[in-house]
Amino acid sequence: IVGLGKGENLLASDVPALLAHSREVYFLEDRELAVLFRDHVDLYTDQGERIIRDPSHVDWDIEAAEKGGYPHFMLKEIHEQPKALSDTLRPRLAGHDINFDEINFDAAWAVSAWASAPRVLITACGTAWHAAMVGKYAFEYFARIPVEVDIASEYRYRNPVFNAGDIFIVVSQSGETADTLAAMRLIKKGGGRVLAVTNVVGSTLAREADLVLYTWAGPEIAVASTKAFTTQLMCLYLLALKLGKLRSQISDDDFSRYLDALETVPGKAEQILSNTGMIQRFASRQFSKGKVFFMGRQFDYALGLESALKLKEINYTHSESFAAGELKHGPIALVDTDTLVVTIATQRNLFDKIISNIREVKSRGASTLVITWQGEEAFSSVADEVFTIPDAPDCFSPLLA
Ligand code: M6R
Repeated sequence: IVGLGKGENLLASDVPALLAHSREVYFLEDRELAVLFRDHVDLYTDQGERIIRDPSHVDWDIEAAEKGGYPHFMLKEIHEQPKALSDTLRPRLAGHDINFDEINFDAAWAVSAWASAPRVLITACGTAWHAAMVGKYAFEYFARIPVEVDIASEYRYRNPVFNAGDIFIVVSQSGETADTLAAMRLIKKGGGRVLAVTNVVGSTLAREADLVLYTWAGPEIAVASTKAFTTQLMCLYLLALKLGKLRSQISDDDFSRYLDALETVPGKAEQILSNTGMIQRFASRQFSKGKVFFMGRQFDYALGLESALKLKEINYTHSESFAAGELKHGPIALVDTDTLVVTIATQRNLFDKIISNIREVKSRGASTLVITWQGEEAFSSVADEVFTIPDAPDCFSPLLA
């Protein structure tokens, strides 16, 4: 990205790096060249032909790219989640419907293609892939459509089989991850039309995808994703609900009920974040554990994948996530007294199952923490510690847990 400054011109790999200096930028396309002088910039094709185009204006607030009083960006961004969730949700709520203005969802081809598609394919990397895993459960739940989720770095190299009529979604905070871009290009080359869920306006992904749905998370400076993840979830839930309606898989009453529940999510996230003292006290007792495992079932399993990644990245602790039912098929061998097992337990129809999993890890000496709904008593006599989150439909637990 070329930033046009006063008496200087700059080159950077992402917009936030330029914000202090410039808001007028050129997004370079592949194979374009920029020559920077103090007082002007020349753009060329790789054939040496001059390119004439207007710069884009970036209107991110410089304040938003600073720490806002928090000791570091990750903490600031954790606390920005309620606003980011609200910014991502509210513009899309139109009465009792979901309105995707910016992706031109109502274009004839999109509606008919989405309504009749045989399958959804979602591809992404890292945190965005974990959001896609939650998305899989959401699409199946609301739209009753088969869903495949693929890691982009695998997808792009394995000569995948797909049908141009499938629904293709790629998820990327930056919109610049090379493997995700390659997966999108592969699908497009095979005749597929791609919807991008991304946070960065003007990113390569946003420019090349057929449809774009933005996560309005604002700049994410911390390397470890937080608000990007939760807003990706919000977009995927909205898409799943919309698809459920298009395919007549969800009644009008249920649809309205779920939208009402989503509207309460930002406020509930705020409530959770006002209670960080309890989390801090728990962490100070447990921080020296050599291993931290997460387990859950269904939506909770998908969420656990992201939890384990966060702990690895930030805490440098060996951390893994398991589908709770898989524990007995091998991983339980790793559980000992040096292990903390965090169970995400929000799927009410599976409480009995998960309680027996908690008993198994306790019998091996693990310390146990359960995250569940407020008012649930099922775990107080089973786990060492229970954190609760404000009540919501089970399917939305990843947004809060
Ligand atoms: O920008 P992207 O969402 O495409 O980035 C993909 C991953 O590198 C990213 O999600 C990474 O896993 C997280 N920042 C880790 O917290």
